[in-house]
Amino acid sequence: MARTLITGGLVVTASDETHADVLVDGARVVALAAHGSQPWTAERVIDATGKYVIPGGVDAHTHMEMPFGGTYASDTFETGTRAAAWGGTTTIVDFAIQSKGRSLTEGLDTWFAKADGKCAVDYGFHMIMSDVNESSLAEMDRLVAAGISSFKLFTAYPGVFYSDDGRILRAMQRAASNGGLVMAHAENGPAIDVLVEQALARGERDPRHHGEVRRALLEAEATHRVIRLSQVAGAPLYVVHVSAREALAELARARAEELPVFGETCPQYLFLSTDNLAEPGFEGAKYVCSTPLRPKDHQEALWRGLRTNELQVVSTDHCPFCFKGQKELGRGDFSKIPNGMPGVENRMDLLHQAVVDGHIDRRRWIELACAAPARMFGLYPKKGTVAPGSDADIVVYDPHAEQTVSAATHHMNVDYSAYEGKRLTGRVETVLSRGEPVIDERAYVGHAGHGTFLPRGLCQYAG
Ligand code: URP
Ligand code: ZN
Ligand code: ZN
Repeated sequence: MARTLITGGLVVTASDETHADVLVDGARVVALAAHGSQPWTAERVIDATGKYVIPGGVDAHTHMEMPFGGTYASDTFETGTRAAAWGGTTTIVDFAIQSKGRSLTEGLDTWFAKADGKCAVDYGFHMIMSDVNESSLAEMDRLVAAGISSFKLFTAYPGVFYSDDGRILRAMQRAASNGGLVMAHAENGPAIDVLVEQALARGERDPRHHGEVRRALLEAEATHRVIRLSQVAGAPLYVVHVSAREALAELARARAEELPVFGETCPQYLFLSTDNLAEPGFEGAKYVCSTPLRPKDHQEALWRGLRTNELQVVSTDHCPFCFKGQKELGRGDFSKIPNGMPGVENRMDLLHQAVVDGHIDRRRWIELACAAPARMFGLYPKKGTVAPGSDADIVVYDPHAEQTVSAATHHMNVDYSAYEGKRLTGRVETVLSRGEPVIDERAYVGHAGHGTFLPRGLCQYAG
């Protein structure tokens, strides 16, 4: 097996920053040592002088080819994982979907077929449960044993993904016994549907009304409810895409009570706001996602939550729909705009910009984007760090390079960028996935099918 030596960089993990050489043998990291202290030789030498050597990003929330609102997310597993690699992410955890009336296994098989042989980097699956019943509850045990150890339930989207409180409680009780982690999309769906109907009746049809009807209080209420349901069930809980400071306050209160509840936010809630949803000429549709973007003054609470560990993970919720032909389905009726935004390629860079801007420090960047998601979803230390024995998923990152984000240069299969024109400091230079170059000095050298399925263990924070 080929050896790779990465020399002279600053190795940044969630716990350490050291000037070290990193020796990779085949697919694994085998040793780190002070720069120049070892007589190591290798077939491939990467000079990382002046650069960071960081673990590949772990994006624990993506939706490749997800069906939504009569269309499909525009990135396939092939295009989406290639874009992930360009952005320094070497692991994604995507969501397989159980359709109503079908089994979990049928949904999972469909997602395995979509991803098999297509991915540029490694991938795992969470399971979306849309139909909680005796049979799907029993299937949960088998999925946990097979490495699909997390289950997303929705208090939103009545008639589609929605589960009532009783069903959510049952799934949580099952997770309490089989070790699975319940993930919650926490918004009060039935109440939102009433507000949508009333807004449309008043003639409020533009994208900005999407943000107005999906009220922060209805995110907070549902967050409170799933927290208390998980407490009753005795199960850990992970709340996805937290955007409202009121919802974050519910998580913070529960964590102060020492409940095993965890939270994720996404770059769009940290860098974008309702100002974007209000952009004229239907441009706001580009920013329609749920939970929705919030007024700018929520951002400081989210940054604080990321610093204080009230929030543990930053994922993308990558769910791209092209402006032309897809977002346009909701012209004249905001409720028909497919929900979701692109971002799998931008997360590592945006969070590095947060380091530059002083919101978080370098190690917290790696913790939020690599180590914590790996621990949360049973992948650490195989993924999420640079250490002997870990997969050699390594990014050589240039912290001084300047870039301007643009749809003209990104690699996601979507016709706009949510961050068009944004200037960022820092850029991915080289990416290894299990020791194989995927990006080499900003050239794509990977291939579809390199990425393999990752059976995951249990949440490493719970229990
Ligand atoms: O708007 C979003 N977030 N779309 C993807 C589905 C989900 O709820 O995560
Ligand atoms: Zn969701
Ligand atoms: Zn999502």
